Amino acid sequence: MCGIVGYIGKREAYPIIMNGLKRLEYRGYDSAGIALYDGTGIQLAKTKGKVSDLEARVEAEIKTDGKLGIGHTRWATHGVPNDINSHPHYSNSGNLVIIHNGIIENYASIKKELENRGYKFKSDTDTEVLVNLIEEVQKVENVKLGKAVQIALNQVVGAYAIALFDRNKPDEIVVAKLGSPLAIGIGEDEFFVASDASPFIEFTNNAIYLEDEEMAIIRLGREVKVRKIKGDMLVDPYIQELQLNLEQIEKGGYDHFMLKEIFEQPSVIKDTYRGRLLADQGIVKLGGLEDHIGKFINANRIIIVACGTSWHAGLVAEYIFEDLTRIPVEVEYASEFRYRNPIISEKDVVIAISQSGETADTLAAIKLAKQHGAFVYGVCNVVGSTISRETHSGTYTHAGPEIGVASTKAFTTQVTVLTMMALRIAKEKGTISQRDFMLHLRELEQIPAHVEEALKSDDKIMEIAEVFKNAKNFLYLGRGYNFPVALEGALKLKEISYIHAEGYPAAEMKHGPIALIDEQMPVVVIAVNSNHYEKVVSNIEEIRARQGVIIAVVTEGDTTVKQLADYIMEVPKTPETLSPLVTTIPLQLLSYHIAVMLGRNVDQPRNLAKSVTVE
Ligand code: AGP
Ligand code: GLU
Repeated sequence: MCGIVGYIGKREAYPIIMNGLKRLEYRGYDSAGIALYDGTGIQLAKTKGKVSDLEARVEAEIKTDGKLGIGHTRWATHGVPNDINSHPHYSNSGNLVIIHNGIIENYASIKKELENRGYKFKSDTDTEVLVNLIEEVQKVENVKLGKAVQIALNQVVGAYAIALFDRNKPDEIVVAKLGSPLAIGIGEDEFFVASDASPFIEFTNNAIYLEDEEMAIIRLGREVKVRKIKGDMLVDPYIQELQLNLEQIEKGGYDHFMLKEIFEQPSVIKDTYRGRLLADQGIVKLGGLEDHIGKFINANRIIIVACGTSWHAGLVAEYIFEDLTRIPVEVEYASEFRYRNPIISEKDVVIAISQSGETADTLAAIKLAKQHGAFVYGVCNVVGSTISRETHSGTYTHAGPEIGVASTKAFTTQVTVLTMMALRIAKEKGTISQRDFMLHLRELEQIPAHVEEALKSDDKIMEIAEVFKNAKNFLYLGRGYNFPVALEGALKLKEISYIHAEGYPAAEMKHGPIALIDEQMPVVVIAVNSNHYEKVVSNIEEIRARQGVIIAVVTEGDTTVKQLADYIMEVPKTPETLSPLVTTIPLQLLSYHIAVMLGRNVDQPRNLAKSVTVE
């Protein structure tokens, strides 16, 4: 999710920061900016677009000398990508300048208070609120920058990796971390700050990785002072000697972006519900939905349009929306919907799901729906993307950039948003009991931990992959909420390993696919605790009777299927409505390991693009 770079030391800061931003481009971003202390004041340039656009902007606008500076690549969460919303951001006085990765959830209430105190805001970002909160604390409490940052961050709810400096004190940079990564490079008479070590690994391999709720004051000629943000305890920082090469750093130590993104899912699911799901208070609130909830309540039906993995997320939404809100739902391949002259009325609500927000077929389906007067709601991952601007309203997943072509964290964060939408609408409609509503909120809040648990089976799943890597065909079976997961699991396998795989409703097997079953055909069956459990067990028996080889996804502790299946992949127990969020995890890992064993280009599979912007 975007990147930060900072430098203070004996060298010119500009080239180090600019090259550092280039090293962080792989993380995905929509804007870039830099601020340099030139000995008397701050030189700042920023722009929507690429680091190369920033270089041009710097050439045209500012001087680049100075030995202190910060740089940023933005992945917008609050405020569309444009020059004004790009970082760094000044405080009102112009003394402080900040860069930030993450999300300040309670920025709106802080902004209102600061406006009451006379603060003016140029941008729509949460970050500009944070730097002015720090300034206000500095003034009111009459404290140094480090203390002001600490006091301010104790008032903030959200996720951050920040770096900032005060032009009146140009011998220090203050940094802080919660939820987004931040590394401090320790050089000879120089310090580096970055989202990972790639910007400074050529200068030093000594690094401090801040832990959550830690901050540091980096002052020339001094040791880095690390302290807890809450309380005032000093921390004795562990200085790591890095042995990673550049490529390993970019992938966070994982061999592929896809694997990194699979393992990011606990944190990005949490980022996606952060500030929106308050289980203890019995609250689900989605900014883009609140003003339009009546349209959903009074809708004749909900039409979901999407492609690929996003279409599978839409199928999960069909089950949960109809189950909880009792609103009829139909799920359409956008590419079919746009051409089949569909019947659309003003009483229809359309939900368009798209990670990239640029998929041509989905965009065309949206335009068609709008022409027929339907209200269109978007679920996108890229802020300011075409689809997010074309829809009447929407909710962003906060999955961060998904670099691997095969969607993984996009799917689980889309399902998280759609689940919150269904719960919010069902609550409003009164189609869910208060007890079930509260149960769902609490269980949804537990999902990141359950995903974390499911990821622990990675080694076991790798062993299963070794057994089946040379199979020529796979069948994936699921029922109910896990039928879409069977489709998604099959898509994951075929798109990265190039092995043919089909997903089917388990009950459909006897209507044809059972003819395929033999000892050469691995059958992946999702057989977690559910209303359909006994029926799925019968399907497994039918497969066994025909010498089929069964790989079952089961609820941990299952003993029945364990006796019947050849291999099992366990996931934690969850309510059936939320089970797709965990049952998809072993299927992602199985596909990943088989593809790697076959030597496939996992992150860029042949013939595929990350965003299909053409028909
Ligand atoms: C899934 O792994 C693929 N990357 C592909 O099916 C993708 O889901 C589809 O192209 C839709 O993309 P979107 O979510 O960006 O609209
Ligand atoms: N929430 C901040 C913004 O939208 C920071 C986003 C990021 O992580 O780049 O500007």
